[in-house]
Amino acid sequence: MTRPLEAIVVGGGIAGMAFAIRLTEFAAGRPLRVRIISKAPVQVSSSYVAQGGMAAVIASDDRLEQHVQDTLGVGCGRNDEAVVRAVVGEGPDMVRWLQGLGAAFDTDAGGALRLAREGGHSAARVVHFKDSTGAEIVRVLRERMIHLPQVEVLENCRALDLIMKDDEAGRQCCGVRVLDIPAAREMELHADVVVLATGGAGQVYAHTTNPPAATGDGIAMAVRAAIALRDMAFVQFHPTALYTDGQGQDFLVSEAVRGAGARLLGADRRPLMEGRHPKGDLAPRNVVARTIHHEMMRTGSPHVWLDAAPIGSVRFAAEFPSIDRRCRALGLVPGVDLIPVLPAAHYLCGGIRTDVRGRTSAEGLIALGECAGTGLHGADRLASNSLLEALVVPRWAAEEVWETTLRVPGPPVDVARPAAMAKRVSAVGERIAVFLRHAMSAHVGIVREEEGLGIALRSIAWADRHLAPIREKRRYSAELLDLKDMLAVARAITEAAIREPLSVGAHYVEERAALV
Ligand code: SIN
Repeated sequence: MTRPLEAIVVGGGIAGMAFAIRLTEFAAGRPLRVRIISKAPVQVSSSYVAQGGMAAVIASDDRLEQHVQDTLGVGCGRNDEAVVRAVVGEGPDMVRWLQGLGAAFDTDAGGALRLAREGGHSAARVVHFKDSTGAEIVRVLRERMIHLPQVEVLENCRALDLIMKDDEAGRQCCGVRVLDIPAAREMELHADVVVLATGGAGQVYAHTTNPPAATGDGIAMAVRAAIALRDMAFVQFHPTALYTDGQGQDFLVSEAVRGAGARLLGADRRPLMEGRHPKGDLAPRNVVARTIHHEMMRTGSPHVWLDAAPIGSVRFAAEFPSIDRRCRALGLVPGVDLIPVLPAAHYLCGGIRTDVRGRTSAEGLIALGECAGTGLHGADRLASNSLLEALVVPRWAAEEVWETTLRVPGPPVDVARPAAMAKRVSAVGERIAVFLRHAMSAHVGIVREEEGLGIALRSIAWADRHLAPIREKRRYSAELLDLKDMLAVARAITEAAIREPLSVGAHYVEERAALV
C-alpha cells in the first residue's frame, strides 16, 4: 500500500504532540500525513502551564511497587490496576526519552536528577524543570515536531464534531468537522484515525488552574457521538491556587512548594493539616482541598494561607522562579509573607473511556491525555502522574495505529464551505457561562450535596434552553461553541456524580457514606 496513513489529532498539547512524534517513529519510512488541529497556541495550553513535573521511579531507594501502591491509594482502588502497572513501569524510560530530546530536568552538582515530593507520594519521585516542567517538555516536543515534514499544524482551527459511520464493521470514526476561524470556513476533514487530545474542562468552574481553552471540547464531541465515558464524577481540585479577587484562570502554586516544606495555615494562622491525615500537608489532594473548603466555610474567609518560611525566600526564588515572580508582582515575598491560596478545579480524572493503547468505544477513534479516562487515576489522581500518562499512552497508541488502522479504500476527500461567523461575543452567552460556573462550583465542586446535584442538573438544562435561540441563528462564535461544549461536559460530570453511590476520592457527597 503506497498511500499515506492519514491521522488527524485534535489538540496540540503534550499528548497530541507525543502521538504525532511517535507515529513518525513507527512509520519508519512508510508514507504518513498527520494534521494537528489546535484552537489555541500551545503557550496557553494546560500542558504548558504544568508546573510540578513527571512522576517516575528514579531514586535507588524507590520502587515501582511503591509508585503503583501510591497511585492506587490516592485513586481509592478505583483505578484499573493493569493500566497503573503498565504506565508506572514506563516512567524511567520516558524520562530518558525526554532527556534524549534535550529536556533539561533539574540535576544536582553530581548530575543526578533532583526529585521533588508531592501529595500522596511515599517518596520523592517527581522529575522537574524548576516550576515550569510543562513548558520545558512542550519546548523539546515542538523542536522535534517542527522538523517532521509529515506533521502539519492547523492553528486557530476549532473542532466541531466527529464524523461517524455505522456499518457492518461497527461504529467507526472517519473524520472531524472543523471551523477554520480566520478563514471563516467549515471543513470536513477525513482520516484513517482521529485522535482526541483536547485536554481538560476546568473552565466549567469559577476557579480553575486551567487555561481558557480548557472547555472540554473533545469530551463534548464524544458525548454527541455516543462514545463511552468513565469516571466523570472525579474532578480534582488543586488545594493551592494563588488567591486574587478575580475569577477565571487562577495561578497555580505547585504542590512541590509543600513538598519542599511549606505549610498550610488556617485563618487563625495555625497549621491546618495537623492531625487530619498521616501525610499532613502532603495528603492526597481531595483530603487537603476538602479541609481548606471546610476552613473557608467555617471562617467565611475567601482563602487560607501558605507559609513558605521553612523554605526561605532565597531558596524559594531559585527553585520556584515563576511562582516567586507572580507573588512578588502582587507585593508578596514568598518565604517572608504568607501566600493566600484557595482550591481550584485542576484535573478531570475521568474522560473518554479508553484502554491503555488509547482505543475508545469506536473504531478509528483514539483519546489521549486529560480528555481520556484510561483508568490510571481512579477516584483521584496521584500528583504528576498525568504528564507520564500523556507521554506513555501516545506511544502505545501510535504503535496500535500502525498495526491496525490503514484501511482500504482510503478516507474520502475533504470538503470545505464558507461559514457564517458572529462578529462579537454574545452578552447572553457570557452571562450563561458565569451562571454555569457558579452552579458547578456551588453544587458539583469539592463538597457536594444530594439536593445541590439536582439543582445543578436543572441549572444546566436552563442554560441549555437559553442558549438554544442564540445557536439557532446559525452563526459561529468561538465563545458560543465553547459554551455549548462546557454545558455538555458539565452535564456529564453532574450525571456521573448523581450515579456514584458512595463518597470516594475527589467525589464527596455530604449524605453519602465514604468509601474507606
Ligand atoms: C503541581 O505542581 O502541584 C501540579 C502537578 C500536577 O498536577 O500533577
